[in-house]
Amino acid sequence: MRTETEHTIFLKDYAPTPYSVVAVDMDFKITEAGTRVRTQMTIEPRPETEPGTPLVLDGDGLTLQSIAIDGAPLMMVAYTTDDDGLTVVEPPFRRFVLETEVNLTPETNTKLMGLYRSSGTWCTQCEPEGFRRITYYLDRPDILAPFKVRITAPRDIAPVLLSNGNLIDKGEAGDGMHFALWEDPFPKPAYLFALVAGDLGSITDTFTTSSGRKVDLAIYCTHGKEAECLYAMDSLKRSMAWDEKRFGREYDLDVFNIVAVSDFNFGAMENKGLNIFNDKLVFALPETASDANYANIERVIAHEYFHNWTGNRITCRDWFQLCLKEGLTVYRDQEFSSDERSRPVQRIHDVENLRITQFPEDGGPLAHPPRPDRYREINNFYTTTVYQKGSEVVRMLATLLGEAGFRKGMDLYFERHDGEATTIEAFLKVFEDATGTDLSQFSRWYLNAGTPAVTASDSYDAASQTYTLTLTQKTAPTPNQPDKPPFVIPVKFGLIGPNGSPMGWTAVAGGTVKDDLIVLDGDSVTLTFTGVANRPVPSLLRGFSAPVKLSTNLTQQDLLFLARHDSDPFNRWDALQTVATQLMAAAATGSQPASADVDALRQAIMDTLGDPALDHAFKAQVIAMPDETVIARQIGRDVDPSAVAEARHALIRAIVGPVAERVEALHAELQVIEPYSPGAAQAGRRSLRNGLLSLLTAGSDRGAALAEAQYHAASNMTDRYAALAISAHNWTKAAPALLGDFRTRFGGDPLVFDKWLVASSQAPDDAVIERLRAILAAPDFPRTNPNRLRALLGSFVMSNPAQFARADGLGFRFVTEAAAEIDKVNPQVAARVLTGFRILPLLEAGRREAGRAALEALRNQHTLSRNTGDIIDRILAG
Ligand code: ARG
Ligand code: ZN
Repeated sequence: MRTETEHTIFLKDYAPTPYSVVAVDMDFKITEAGTRVRTQMTIEPRPETEPGTPLVLDGDGLTLQSIAIDGAPLMMVAYTTDDDGLTVVEPPFRRFVLETEVNLTPETNTKLMGLYRSSGTWCTQCEPEGFRRITYYLDRPDILAPFKVRITAPRDIAPVLLSNGNLIDKGEAGDGMHFALWEDPFPKPAYLFALVAGDLGSITDTFTTSSGRKVDLAIYCTHGKEAECLYAMDSLKRSMAWDEKRFGREYDLDVFNIVAVSDFNFGAMENKGLNIFNDKLVFALPETASDANYANIERVIAHEYFHNWTGNRITCRDWFQLCLKEGLTVYRDQEFSSDERSRPVQRIHDVENLRITQFPEDGGPLAHPPRPDRYREINNFYTTTVYQKGSEVVRMLATLLGEAGFRKGMDLYFERHDGEATTIEAFLKVFEDATGTDLSQFSRWYLNAGTPAVTASDSYDAASQTYTLTLTQKTAPTPNQPDKPPFVIPVKFGLIGPNGSPMGWTAVAGGTVKDDLIVLDGDSVTLTFTGVANRPVPSLLRGFSAPVKLSTNLTQQDLLFLARHDSDPFNRWDALQTVATQLMAAAATGSQPASADVDALRQAIMDTLGDPALDHAFKAQVIAMPDETVIARQIGRDVDPSAVAEARHALIRAIVGPVAERVEALHAELQVIEPYSPGAAQAGRRSLRNGLLSLLTAGSDRGAALAEAQYHAASNMTDRYAALAISAHNWTKAAPALLGDFRTRFGGDPLVFDKWLVASSQAPDDAVIERLRAILAAPDFPRTNPNRLRALLGSFVMSNPAQFARADGLGFRFVTEAAAEIDKVNPQVAARVLTGFRILPLLEAGRREAGRAALEALRNQHTLSRNTGDIIDRILAG
């Protein structure tokens, strides 16, 4: 029987290795029959190491062909090998060179970790623990070494040979083989190692850094796809310029290469000088990629590039510190997108994403702190909490310290820790030292899980012109963390007077208020503002200044007042969303909204649409109705997802019905006639127009035909896909025919096929599971490709809660049965799909039990990977 702590790795057990790696020399000989890897590591005992301490190297699925120390082969008794690696029993007590040789078969590597083949191209993925599938090594991020890599391969099938750093030699190697020699002078952890060999096309460009150094840029791809890489290249150059301007960070090598591959476990990877990308985050043409795809490409290209400083130059001491590079780098990419596009719209977008994905994680059985203190399988911690909440924590730091203080801290971070593998504590310390701020309480954000619930209540006394505001915080227990101490919560705010303009006060007592910032750091604070001329409406948590759930005593009327008058665009959006969410949650639990309330909401929406001061992209966000997950969270427990879907639909009908004609006219007016451009202005216009189409289709009888017409008339993927997805999601009469047309029209393009899969998985009708089963069972379905599997199953699980969580359990079983098969091929993909079961505690008892039964059956009837076993056990324990 497995015990609670078996295989569990704890942060408190961290210790440096007894040996360090001084330099690494690798020699890859690649052929169709297999790959031979010879590694020479120069190794040294640390000063504190006792003579005779064994050298323990990681290895996963390797078979040792030969081993030598300083050129002399090692006797059998001098080393041992097992499932976890290789141990040299008594290594020399001085600097020495260990040479090992292994043979790999990348052709059969379906886990896509280590060296594998994607459509004929050899490529690697090493983060977090893939390098040990390539060679025996100290495969942990605190082991940094310079690498030299020689690749020899057949010239005809692999004319392109790439690795990290700079190319220092190349030439013929006889027998139709050729070679390339790469050298990366920057010491790096093995997880940043990369190698690519294949027959690839490319586009090239150059970038001159602020100090005048010329960098050669290239993006490699399947032949024929070169034109689809231009937007990615443009994004790369803008990212490089932005990091210089905003953070003073210059690029450091002579080349920067990106390779697009079609089989990849996640988005992309920041290997030093050689980023490897999932091709869906590189390829874009107006006919096949949507505006959302373009924005994502820009964001992820920037993210991976920014890692060069936050991740590569300064890396993580151990994997518990993952958030050190990921949270910070997400913060940087969000800031980049804000500067390149619209800041308020970007913020709304990021917060929406946080609420739909991170809040459910943080409030369920898989909750963990941004910096966890234990794990069984590190791959299961590349989560929205580490990434998105991690970014929110950095954002709060910037809010609390101010722009200048934050920048001073960042400068110190780069100066003090360049070349190091470090920790969250070291990161916080630079801000303490640069600004003289004590961040010990603030550090709880990294160490504790859970979304704090903040409650605000206020009152106004006209006689004394006194306004009182009380804020309290409380965080529910999470796995392994029963008690939550108070967090430091920055609450940006303003008071709004009866005529809609900001209101001041003469004095405030009870707590500290600095400009527009209240810092709530105890269980509660009561602030008394004097000299307040009228009863104000408070605008709290402006810009979503902390990742908390705020509830207030504001009435619907107050909220709609904010929706009209708040000078903070985020809160304008949020106020209206809150009204809609509350009405939908109430309706889903049996209290039908009063028609006056619906009328007021409709009026606020129409006024927003008609406001000439607001841009299209912002309006599009305002009219987008709350996601079903957000409504379910608002209800909190015993949720019936079908009732949620129905209540949502009913409110949209009630809102749109009386204004359908005007909405339709607006939809017509907003058509873009200029040639397609992915820029924010045009994209904003399209997103508003498609938002209106969505309202019309869900909320009136006029939408279905309009969607069908838009589908056929569309001249770009954004408009065509929106029409398709809206038709499928509302399961209009035309939906089956449109899905059929889309499939034949684009069937040959795998990335567009994914769009078809996503749209298909969103259908609300009861036959959807049967259709998805058939798609998955088709003999030609590419069942080893992560993108295909995620498009079909991932989006079903995350975005079709009513069918996934069906009362009869069919949705749950469909997913667990598919996961059992996928787990044998690619455990990471299977585990990721199963995280969708984290919604179980939210559901009403019948569904909850059906979900548990499906998971238990999966657990009991199959031999599972550590990845899926860990996810299932944590969900069942929660
Ligand atoms: N470091 C990569 C990025 O954020 C992602 C690596 C994901 N690895 C994983 N095992 N899920 O860009
Ligand atoms: Zn990252």
